Amino acid sequence: MANPKLLLISGSLRKGSYNRMLLAEAAEAFGPAEISEGSLDLPLYDGDLEEAEGVPEAVKHLAQQIKDADAVVIGAPEYNKGITGVLKNGLDWISRVPGAALKDKPVVVVSASAGRTGGETAQFMTLSCLTQLQARLVPGTAILIAGAMNAFDDAGKLKDETSRKLLADRMVALRAEVV
Ligand code: FNR
Repeated sequence: MANPKLLLISGSLRKGSYNRMLLAEAAEAFGPAEISEGSLDLPLYDGDLEEAEGVPEAVKHLAQQIKDADAVVIGAPEYNKGITGVLKNGLDWISRVPGAALKDKPVVVVSASAGRTGGETAQFMTLSCLTQLQARLVPGTAILIAGAMNAFDDAGKLKDETSRKLLADRMVALRAEVV
């Protein structure tokens, strides 16, 4: 059987994003897979733009990536105790593409944030949006990496053994949904 297709989506556009590092760790824990990254570098949702020009190509591409994926992992950082604008904007656009790309799609949300709660509020908000989009949220202990600037070593690996174990368990659960 071919390797499952795993799509990684970072709610931060930053090159050095800790959430991107966490997604890389998640992908490694997921095991053999065809991995791709979805970009949230999209125009701001604007109903006038949508009416005049339709859904942007970059959004259509992302929706197709989601449809093609067997499983999706989203990295949800926390800004001001909420979901990042980038991630919310992406989810809003995706919801406008006919065909409900996220419907029944196995999804896990992980978060790394600077604060002590590891982005818990942002993750909760993301899960709430994904429920509206009818994603199949794979349950498990929340992956919340607090103090993200100290949580990864120079190679981008998670230092904390417990977090690594929780992430591994969650990825086993995600994999079990698709293979
Ligand atoms: C933050 N940060 C932050 N952290 C947190 O734990 N709770 C918060 O409410 C906020 N608020 C916040 C607002 C804004 C505008 C910025 C730019 C940052 C810090 C944030 O967690 C940190 O920048 C992470 O590194 C963001 O994730 P990436 O970009 O590393 O993936």
